[in-house]
Amino acid sequence: MAPLQEFTADHRLLIAAAAQAGGFRDPVAFDADLFETHLIKAARRGRFTPLDGVFIRDWDPDFRRIWSGMNLGLRLYHLDAITIVRATAGCAAGRYGAGYDLLVCDRSQYRAFYRRAIELRKRTAPPNPPPVLPPEIETKLWQNTIGYLEPKNLDRIKRFGGRAKHGLLLTGPPGNGKTSACRWIHQECVRRNWDRKLITADDYAAARRADDPGEAVRQLFKVSKQGVIFFDDMDIALRDRETVKETDDQSVFLTALDGVSGNEAVVYVFTTNCDIRLIDPAFRRPGRIDLTLHFGKPTAELRRRLIERWDAEILSAIPVERIVDDSDGFSFAELDELRNLLIVDYLKSNRWDWDRAKRTYRENRAELAGGGKNRHVGFGRAAVNGTAPAAL
Ligand SMILES: Nc1ncnc2c1ncn2[C@@H]1O[C@H](COP(=O)(O)OP(=O)(O)OP(=O)(O)O)[C@@H](O)[C@H]1O
Ligand SMILES: [Mg+2]
Repeated sequence: MAPLQEFTADHRLLIAAAAQAGGFRDPVAFDADLFETHLIKAARRGRFTPLDGVFIRDWDPDFRRIWSGMNLGLRLYHLDAITIVRATAGCAAGRYGAGYDLLVCDRSQYRAFYRRAIELRKRTAPPNPPPVLPPEIETKLWQNTIGYLEPKNLDRIKRFGGRAKHGLLLTGPPGNGKTSACRWIHQECVRRNWDRKLITADDYAAARRADDPGEAVRQLFKVSKQGVIFFDDMDIALRDRETVKETDDQSVFLTALDGVSGNEAVVYVFTTNCDIRLIDPAFRRPGRIDLTLHFGKPTAELRRRLIERWDAEILSAIPVERIVDDSDGFSFAELDELRNLLIVDYLKSNRWDWDRAKRTYRENRAELAGGGKNRHVGFGRAAVNGTAPAAL
């Protein structure tokens, strides 16, 4: 028999044995590759079955949680209602690399199994680092978004008759992490396979121009399963109707927000850099906004934490403590800009020269302040929002 025919015959034997052990009518064999560890860790281990009448245990003490514990044979695994069989013939090592080792399930469960594998892998991926935040803001943000929606917490809320709808407002001057914090929580929703939507002021404006604006805005507020909806920079919709010229933006917004019902748990996160006093009190009332978190300009400690995230080569060549002192009154975004100038200068001069980066920053700021009204560079929006850019 040609080697390939022997090889396929071996596989036929393995797959047929696995199908019999698992009770599969239409078996699909696969190599789960990078997904395998996550799957096997999450699955419940089932019984062993001999392969063609032979079963050999393997006492290898390493990797006990993921190793099947056999050198020749079949083992069942159960993940939710899905059964898979691992077929192993390590004895073929030498002839065929590491021997035969494959997974088999029934075709009817293959898709569901694949989806579950993707979800498990995402969930076990390392968590995304949060932006630099004061610890109490980071904790509150987490508890009121991801923590709020964790199934255990939600079950308790529902059991006690609480609301499955929760609203957060992030305020603060530009460039201090409101959008970055949303991005962090958004990625955490992705990892959990929860629903998540990022709505910008433009999306809102487009919905308002739709044929049926009421319905289009309502759709923006909807989730298909538990999740978080982020409304970034929603100044138009949130401003106080008394102090700004009233448009019906505000009332449409509030109606859509109140109109959301149903069983799906949802957290709304709104961000704005307009002053909290300018925000419509009707919007801020409990039931719409349950918590406001202020993202202020960073303290020396927070600036140091941000700088310590810079590349190790830069850190070894710059006076960190002096930069922390020099940057008093800066936003995080302005500190980022200084790092960029430092890098651009390094590319030209091959030296990490903090003083020169500072000088360039000062010159750029001066240019922006004088006559550059139409220029929108980096954090130029600071002036628009009434906070002058920090000066060095
Ligand atoms: N807390 C932070 N930690 C780390 N980096 C930050 C932080 N805040 C801001 N940055 C940096 O500044 C950039 C702009 O910040 P971000 O968009 O989060 O500000 P914002 O508060 O949403 O501002 P705006 O009010 O103008 O929308 C970010 O992309 C990031 O590089
Ligand atoms: Mg923002």
